[in-house]
Amino acid sequence: MKFKTVIEPFKIYATQSIPLLTSEERTRALRDAGYNLFALDADRVTIDLLTDSGTGAMSSRQWAAMMDADESYAGSRSFHDFADCVRDITGFSEIIPTHQGRAAEKILFATLLNAGDVVPNNTHFDTTRANIEYQGAVAVDLVRKEGLDPAVEAPFKGDMDVEALKACIAEHGKERIPLVMMTITNNSGGGQPVSLENLRQVSAICRESGIPFFLDACRFAENAWFIREREEGQSGRTPKEIAKDVFALADGCTMSAKKDGLANMGGFLAMNDKELARQCRNLLILTEGFPTYGGLAGRDLAAVAQGLKEVLDEEYLRYRIGSTAYVGNSLTEAGVPIVRPPGGHAVYIDAKALLPHIPPHQYPAQALATALYLSGGVRGCEIGSVMFGKKSPDGGEIPAPMELVRLAIPRRTYTQSHMDYVIEVILEVVKRAETLQGLRIVEEAPWLRHFTARFEPVRRTSTRA
Ligand code: F0G
Repeated sequence: MKFKTVIEPFKIYATQSIPLLTSEERTRALRDAGYNLFALDADRVTIDLLTDSGTGAMSSRQWAAMMDADESYAGSRSFHDFADCVRDITGFSEIIPTHQGRAAEKILFATLLNAGDVVPNNTHFDTTRANIEYQGAVAVDLVRKEGLDPAVEAPFKGDMDVEALKACIAEHGKERIPLVMMTITNNSGGGQPVSLENLRQVSAICRESGIPFFLDACRFAENAWFIREREEGQSGRTPKEIAKDVFALADGCTMSAKKDGLANMGGFLAMNDKELARQCRNLLILTEGFPTYGGLAGRDLAAVAQGLKEVLDEEYLRYRIGSTAYVGNSLTEAGVPIVRPPGGHAVYIDAKALLPHIPPHQYPAQALATALYLSGGVRGCEIGSVMFGKKSPDGGEIPAPMELVRLAIPRRTYTQSHMDYVIEVILEVVKRAETLQGLRIVEEAPWLRHFTARFEPVRRTSTRA
């Protein structure tokens, strides 16, 4: 290419102002929120990188499609447009709309799982794990070992360790494994992609064992772009061709359309098994709604259908993955430890490497996330021992394997100068990393505690004699 700047491939005709706060205002807001960034009101946040889920900007075509949507309770035109579009990309015949990804998970797992069952995945996202555990089943993470080492540069750190999968099936027996899942891209493991080759291997193992293989497809388009850029023989292909190949290897998927659906709400469950789909629809009617709307308005279905077309656009994906890499590579050049290489939807700062003086039970990534907020009003998200720490039998805590702060980038929402500001804020905090202090939990819920826990700073006792 002639120019190195990858521009946002859109112009902006609607704007929303950004809250700019004083340091005192942020300090007060954080204290009131119990040092939990989920508890902060959005009007206290300057750049919101808490999640890339449902926070993207829709296109004028999506808004137009919403105006033209059909709100009929049963069999609406918007449902058929939506289902046709999902079928076109995934190839699955049974399309079940849900209000978001976790609703698809809940319905699938409630239908398929019994207590004591085992579900392997590269890495389960937190809602996926919680929904499996809620059924009394066990969620097992089998990501390849490079996926657990933030510093290693490898093209497909989201791949599953296929030997570990075989061992898992041998240990538990296929009767105890109602499905195998793969999360593309691997959100909890740094937004790292999964290769087509690895998906082929996992698919073959599942087919051999007669175990259904489902994708957690939230970021399938970003994953397709990585396959195109990094996997041999894939560079000349369109993201859509690659995505179709990926889906063809699976028996079904759960999807949060709040990510690569480019919508603010929506999701679906899709599969080929008609009998399983019938059972899922029965549950859907109980909890989500009639099978042709599943908890969504017709206009939401229309927005997702249009979003799914836009998300596979090559210029969009070049910009999307390029803008995340821009943030990640700028931090690496400045010496900040991040999960390498940068993921698709987010940059993950390695708080364990940056803050070795804060032990895991004082939550280094939570400490870093709160410091970024205090410094510049940047809201990221802890993905470490607050989110994934486990209780040990002696009442203590088993830390998570990694302590990360995820800076998830909403789709089409912020510009490059916003990202330059974020980089500056991070570098300011990194400069005084050794002065940051840990946190202790003073209140927590029995599951998904990171959403509601309250913390207080641990005062450091002087180590000087
Ligand atoms: N699977 C993955 C890989 C996810 O990242 C998410 C959501 C879900 C499932 C659940 O989807 O939110 O629509 O119910 N991830 C968001 C995040 C919340 O911030 O990463 P949902």
